[in-house]
Amino acid sequence: MRYILIKEAGQGMVLAKGVYDSFGRMLLAKGNTLTEEYIYKLRERGYTGFYIEDEYSEGIEVEETISVELRNRSVEALRRNDIDASLEAAKDIVSQILANGTVSLDMVDLRTFDDYTYRHSVNVAVLSTVIGMGMNLNRQHLNELCTAAIFHDLGKIMIAPRILNKPGRFTKEEFKIVKEHPRLSVMLLKDRAQVPEDSMSGILFHHENEDGSGYPEGLKGEETNIYAKIIHVADVYDALVSKRPYKDPYTPSEAIEYLMGGCHILFNEKVVNSFLKCVPIYPKGTTITLSDGREGIVFENTSNPTRPRIRLRTGDIIDLGDVTKNLNVTINPTSTVETDYSNEMAALSSEEEDGRRTVLAVDNDIMNLQLVRGALERDYHVVMAKDNTEALDYLADNERPALILMSVLLDGTNGIDTIKQIQEKYDMSIPVIFLTELSDRDTIEQCLAVHAADYIVKPFRPLYILERVRAVIEGNDIITINARID
Ligand SMILES: [Fe+2]
Repeated sequence: MRYILIKEAGQGMVLAKGVYDSFGRMLLAKGNTLTEEYIYKLRERGYTGFYIEDEYSEGIEVEETISVELRNRSVEALRRNDIDASLEAAKDIVSQILANGTVSLDMVDLRTFDDYTYRHSVNVAVLSTVIGMGMNLNRQHLNELCTAAIFHDLGKIMIAPRILNKPGRFTKEEFKIVKEHPRLSVMLLKDRAQVPEDSMSGILFHHENEDGSGYPEGLKGEETNIYAKIIHVADVYDALVSKRPYKDPYTPSEAIEYLMGGCHILFNEKVVNSFLKCVPIYPKGTTITLSDGREGIVFENTSNPTRPRIRLRTGDIIDLGDVTKNLNVTINPTSTVETDYSNEMAALSSEEEDGRRTVLAVDNDIMNLQLVRGALERDYHVVMAKDNTEALDYLADNERPALILMSVLLDGTNGIDTIKQIQEKYDMSIPVIFLTELSDRDTIEQCLAVHAADYIVKPFRPLYILERVRAVIEGNDIITINARID
């Protein structure tokens, strides 16, 4: 079997796995042949893809990590807010994973966005347990971890759906309310003796970052327990690969890139390493394109997460891990899904006035944009543009931002030229901070020539960005160019 995106679906394709709705009811059984009507209805319901069986993918089996029955039962227990049934489900998840000996999640999750909250909690429970198993936690610890994971967002039931499901970024006030959810989760469970103290800490601190920039307490790495660290990674990964009303899903490789980029800053390195061992970058049955133009399906994952065995269209199987033959072949980053910036831009521009100043961040790299937004959004309204054109379009239609964060390297042009264009076209003196990998004298001099207020060398810590942006916008700091001149 192989996984296809709904946009690739066609009449006559045969389903390799059943498709279920958010209540666990089967919509289409395995073996059904797709018709135009079925495809239309699945798209309407928000499905992003499914598994099909064909000659090309014959013999490729993709196993569920936990049974469909247990997954649906867990989702239902959470939906009914039945704490006892959810505790039971958490135990069963650990038992099934231990019994299967599964240490790999080699499957694309089939889901829609209408059932995000509960399905997300179950996915985080499964992912956390698999990561914990990869870190050699014993059964009792896995039970405590899985219990914390299944309830990590329980408190969200006390937050208005109008805020939780808002199609766009939160206002400062809304974000303040959302940030209460770990405390609310703990409060709802406080009389439950079956939820041990360590699980409670795992729930309470699942949004804390290694560098102290998280919430609710702003604790640093050494101050939170292993359950919180594992749930944090599982939670962010699952959120990134999910389709939400305001964003398309990341591919697993993009999400994994984000986790690796966030090591030591947001995430614990040991947890991310265990995650990498258990969650393949290219899940079995997914289609990939090689650097030499050949297309194939992932036939099998090996101990090297970046070099799976591939079945080509011709039927030949090649082992990318075999350095004697395939050293010069790479996998092209999948571009089948992309963050829809136009949606996000629209949501941002229609955001209520909440007194926050606007920062325009321009970078080709989605991960950097996300990091910047994560660091600033509490205090600033961050508009993201992924290239020169989007930045200029934004400036043409909107009021001038309080600051521009500009990457020096942009595809097709460079950030310094873009700033020159902005200054010529709008005759504006908006302060600019450059973000760059480069710290050579030439680049720095060019940045100074366009009156850059600051120059930050990547990789950077989110808290550092916040400090520098604040200093420039508030104007209460002596600006220094802090790059090292080589
Ligand atoms: Fe959460």
